[in-house]
Amino acid sequence: MEKDIAQVLLSEEQLQTRIRELGQQLAQDYRGKNPTMVCILKGAIMFYTDLLRAMPIPLSMDFMAVSSYGNRTKSSGEVEIRKDLSTSIEGKHVVIVEDIVDSGFTLTYLTRLLQTRGAASIKLCTLLDKPSRRAPGITLKADYSGFEVGNEFVVGYGLDYAERYRNLPYIGILKPEVYENA
Ligand code: IMP
Ligand code: MG
Repeated sequence: MEKDIAQVLLSEEQLQTRIRELGQQLAQDYRGKNPTMVCILKGAIMFYTDLLRAMPIPLSMDFMAVSSYGNRTKSSGEVEIRKDLSTSIEGKHVVIVEDIVDSGFTLTYLTRLLQTRGAASIKLCTLLDKPSRRAPGITLKADYSGFEVGNEFVVGYGLDYAERYRNLPYIGILKPEVYENA
């Protein structure tokens, strides 16, 4: 696994420090609002569990699974709901917790979908943002963002390539030959 990583981009310590800051910010902004924190499976799972442990306020947890990529490294623009929320978000303050915003298709689609269900508010919290990669016509901005990254394909700390590398405790840049030879 490690031999496929060209470079560690964000160490465990860098991740934890920034996630604690985000958690404190969210706790301050959502105190008294009992937000529904929506984890987008599977990529956001590590971020989500660390983030929520850094939020010492009452909140609810819920999960969605979507797929936009298959095993490829470019988004198709199509989003499929694989698992839906198990609770109603009507009248709720919702925070969508995502691993990475790339083209922006996934979160644009999800935000619109959850808006139709009558949430009181919807905000986006992403660990990583690739602002230079937004698709034409997509104007999505994250309300809370951990780190901006460049064009490289990154894995680890929940992020995968073809379902692998999610369990690396840091975020690394995948060697291009790993997906070029696939
Ligand atoms: P978007 O719809 O193009 O914004 O894609 C978002 C999804 O693509 C994320 O939830 C990830 O699953 C996946 N993704 C985008 N960039 C990367 C990357 O560098 N590494 C791993 N997954 C990525
Ligand atoms: Mg993924």
